[in-house]
Amino acid sequence: MKIPFHITNTEEYNRCYTESVQNPDNFWNEIASNFLWRNKWSTVLDYNFESARFNWFVNGKLNITENCIDRHLLTNSEDIAIIWEPNFENEASHFITYRELHQRVIKFALVLKNNGIQKGDRVCINMGMIPELAIAILACARIGAIHSVIFGGFSSKSIADRLVDADAKMIICCDGAFRGKKIIPIKSIIDDALKLYSKNISVIVYQRTKTKINFNPSIDKWWHEEMNKINELTDPLVILDSDDPLFILYTSGSTGKPKGVVHSCGGYMVYTAYSFVNAFQYHKGMVHFCTADIGWITGHSYIVYGPLLCGATSIIYEGIPTWPKSDRFWKIIDKHKVNIFYTAPTAIRSLMSYGLAQFENSKLNSLKVIGSVGEPINEEAWHWYYDNVGKKNCPLIDTWWQTETGGILISDLAGITKSPPSIAGKPLPGIQPVLVNEDGNEIVDYGTQGKLCIKFPWPSIIFTTYRNHDRCIETYFKPFTGKYYTGDGAYLTKYGNYRIIGRVDDVLNISGHRIGTAEVENAINSHPEVLESAIVGYPHPVKGEAICAFVIIEHQSNYTQMLRNEIENCVSMQIGSFAKPDRILQVPGLPKTRSGKIMRRILRKIASGDTNNLGDLTSLLDSSIVDKIIELNNSDQINNFEKF
Ligand code: WT7
Repeated sequence: MKIPFHITNTEEYNRCYTESVQNPDNFWNEIASNFLWRNKWSTVLDYNFESARFNWFVNGKLNITENCIDRHLLTNSEDIAIIWEPNFENEASHFITYRELHQRVIKFALVLKNNGIQKGDRVCINMGMIPELAIAILACARIGAIHSVIFGGFSSKSIADRLVDADAKMIICCDGAFRGKKIIPIKSIIDDALKLYSKNISVIVYQRTKTKINFNPSIDKWWHEEMNKINELTDPLVILDSDDPLFILYTSGSTGKPKGVVHSCGGYMVYTAYSFVNAFQYHKGMVHFCTADIGWITGHSYIVYGPLLCGATSIIYEGIPTWPKSDRFWKIIDKHKVNIFYTAPTAIRSLMSYGLAQFENSKLNSLKVIGSVGEPINEEAWHWYYDNVGKKNCPLIDTWWQTETGGILISDLAGITKSPPSIAGKPLPGIQPVLVNEDGNEIVDYGTQGKLCIKFPWPSIIFTTYRNHDRCIETYFKPFTGKYYTGDGAYLTKYGNYRIIGRVDDVLNISGHRIGTAEVENAINSHPEVLESAIVGYPHPVKGEAICAFVIIEHQSNYTQMLRNEIENCVSMQIGSFAKPDRILQVPGLPKTRSGKIMRRILRKIASGDTNNLGDLTSLLDSSIVDKIIELNNSDQINNFEKF
């Protein structure tokens, strides 16, 4: 059977889905044939769930950047690959064609080489949302260096942890990054991070904000000076194995230490392009605007790799949604005639609070598809987005996936399959979701919530966790034998669509940022006055979830606003200010089981003000603590009303 790369109707979706389950080798063999390989694979898939080993397109050789760039040069070299929209409205947009991108990537890849970077070396990238960020990523991939992009909101301590874990040889950064009215002093944050990193490292600094920086010529090099040294564009392209690592991206889990999720070249390439084309129904010539930061997986897969693999025009926007005004996204959509717009529910909810006047001067009539990612989109936000942005004319896809999955796994295919508001939809071809109960048995009936697992590999499945493969096995493949465990809860509707509930492990989702409770607790516990703490999430109208910290203080009378600020500071310094608790509650004790485990379930209910039904408290060591915490929570809510 011939497998179409681009699914165009429901019947085709059903046919492809069935084939992908019944005959996955044939299915992915056909899909992968749409790319440029230097050497064809000998085996489509060789895998073992127990040892978390997934080898896709075995013995296949390729370079993903040839597929992202060179492949389009023959016929589409003058197409725009990247449109850069600066933070400032009066600064000109940049348009980078595929031909220009090709040259700039090769040139910067030569800079990397001149600075001693080779295949397999880890290069950390910490820049604002500028085209050079995409160029740096692609230049690494061109020579087989493993990029590790670090989100601009992380503190120097977090950056240092990631440099150490990755054993990085180079950092590519900028002097500063513009975000609305703010300038983030990236280089100085890096300087502080390097105080905690003892290895030899070189730093390449792109000048964007003209912020004054410390420049240490023995380590630091200017991007523009290094580029000027390149006279001849001899392509340094390195051909890689399908399962050579492409990048590391750190993400939070239920332990205190973020893990380096590794994706490999071949599988990631095939699946990001396939999911991009089908979920968004991309057609040649379309302009795609994903508002995520490239420091997260959404930006990797659907600003850089997915769109470029398909020859699309991808927008990189430097600023924030609400600056200078709340109509900024809408102006960008009209200005660049955006066809696909992809954002997060938290952005939608924050824009909702500005009212409908923000749409007065925009048409938004170029839009064809709108998408949502990062957390379940609540019905109110769904309708607002569908009505006011999509003008009731554009399919809204609610795309479920994770850093570890590399690409979208569950979503409608825009305009082809249709799910009601707040339901993510059906699995893409190749994806075999299954819900399991606590005992690991499959749930087959509709409406019963279970833990979401995937029972067959897909090409962009997590390859490993960097330098700690056991952790990859433990976290994702041990909980349920023969399955990938997502950490999310979900149920199935009677039409075969998935409703994702959210995390069921100790991971929070704050404004679409994934944060481990243990990480925040470690940061808070580092304060000398704090004896113990517990972090839980509670519903928040804009962020989706907010953080409530229950802390036990050594000298209770010391509990002042200053201490509160210091505790917040510990979190900002050790993780980043986006992880700061919204509420800090001093408590005399925490609800613990006899074995000493904190019962977060109870704290979650208290933090969300839902104290009528706390469930079974009999396993608690001291149940009187619960009443005391409820009382403190109530008085704190009154005292801190402005915090909500
Ligand atoms: C977690 C993954 C995937 C890119 C952004 C976040 C939650 C993501 C949805 C959605 C419900 C969603 C899940 C998931 N999530 N998309 N459409 N509906 N929940 O990537 O940081 O790896 O976080 O985000 O809880 O496990 P991430």
